[in-house]
Amino acid sequence: MTYYNSVLELVGRTPLVRLNHLSKGLKPLILAKMESYNPGGSVKDRIGIAMIDRAERQGELKPGGTVVEATSGNTGIGLALACAIRGYRSVFVMTDKCSQEKVRYLKALGADVIVVPAATKSDSPDHYVNLARRIAAETPNAILTNQYGNPANPEAHYRTTGPEVWEETEGRVTHFVAGMGTGGTISGTGRYLKEMNPAIQVVGADPYGSVFKTYKETGTLHSSTPYLVEGIGQDMIPDNVHLKYVDQIINVTDRDSFNTARRLGREEGIFCGGSTGTNAWAALKLAERLDENGVIVFIVCDTGERYLSKFLSDEWMKEKRLLGEERMTIGLLNELKLQSGKLPLISVSPLTRVDEMLEIMELNGISQLPVIDQGQAVGSIREHRVMSKIVDDRSILEAEVSRIMDDPFPVINEAVEISRVRHSLKDSPAILVEEYGRIIGIITRYDVLDVDARS
Ligand SMILES: Cc1ncc(COP(=O)(O)O)c(C=O)c1O
Repeated sequence: MTYYNSVLELVGRTPLVRLNHLSKGLKPLILAKMESYNPGGSVKDRIGIAMIDRAERQGELKPGGTVVEATSGNTGIGLALACAIRGYRSVFVMTDKCSQEKVRYLKALGADVIVVPAATKSDSPDHYVNLARRIAAETPNAILTNQYGNPANPEAHYRTTGPEVWEETEGRVTHFVAGMGTGGTISGTGRYLKEMNPAIQVVGADPYGSVFKTYKETGTLHSSTPYLVEGIGQDMIPDNVHLKYVDQIINVTDRDSFNTARRLGREEGIFCGGSTGTNAWAALKLAERLDENGVIVFIVCDTGERYLSKFLSDEWMKEKRLLGEERMTIGLLNELKLQSGKLPLISVSPLTRVDEMLEIMELNGISQLPVIDQGQAVGSIREHRVMSKIVDDRSILEAEVSRIMDDPFPVINEAVEISRVRHSLKDSPAILVEEYGRIIGIITRYDVLDVDARS
């Protein structure tokens, strides 16, 4: 019989996959190290079990003990897997920048999760790392695994990731590219590869806003600025970042990271997270300067499944103004309106009584209203015009809307870009959004002003 004793035995020995499309026109061989194939779906499975093993060996973690960690999610998943199998309790502190999917994933593995604001600086007691330290100190029989300083973290990569990259490329790797969160991956793998061949270039991929690149190049720490990619970059230098193994650092924007990660899914079938996009973009930049002797390996840090509500959602990307050349369509604006809690489409039928219609308008605080009959726009109401008609003839209050309505608002397909509907909004206070022949929403002049203000 062939079987594994637990999923922990499935950690590591991940495959390399060649890029075929993103690499068009580039000379080097570019290989993705598929850490997303680990049982917990990320590179961090390697250090989860390694840190637990070390704590057990050193007698710090005893039966019934609790493991506490500050994590952007993936280390938590790696640890939670090991804790589930070894019978420990696990508690993770995360920031609200992390996706809901990761929080739910951890809970599904039996962990307790505490979410704190991401905006807290690293010297505050409420920073997620400091809070994790406090919880570990105050909980009986608990340890803080501390991925940022635990030597078992880079050591796991020195022992496993490095040799794998070396063996899988038969020693022909020329460049290794990884992001830096705790620094474990780049420091451990980088050290091993440089020991095997000092000419191998180790390249860090760092989000704009993080401090690593400037620190490496000038030795100074600037204050960090926010960015959206999860899991990499810092506002300080963790102990596990050993920059002596890093030859150069390439800065990458959120836009390039996310769009490259999305392209990896669409064009290579490599379904990955945003930090993988950061690494891949840096690998592609590097490749532009290399010839056919180049063999670049970059890390696929984790699977895209945990980002479906974030950068893998068009709505999220457009809301953050990150989606390539594409522009805002009226359909998307309508969706964003609904998501932000604004009113759905409110309409009346031509048979509604005028006094009831006025009540609906007052109740919802709106001054215009489409008249819709069987899914089709048949007329429109503008409050000031109706009021002047009523002043002339009060009996209108009891009449049907069809008697006093004006021409319908323009009906425009949801795929049309906002820039192309501005002229319609000069003559009409609103336009109706149509999809597959049905009216699905309304866009007013104010909605468009709102978009302009956010662009
Ligand atoms: C999604 C993701 N990518 C990359 C990394 C970076 O790896 P390391 O911490 O080994 O530097 C992390 C680590 O937190 C991560 O969660």
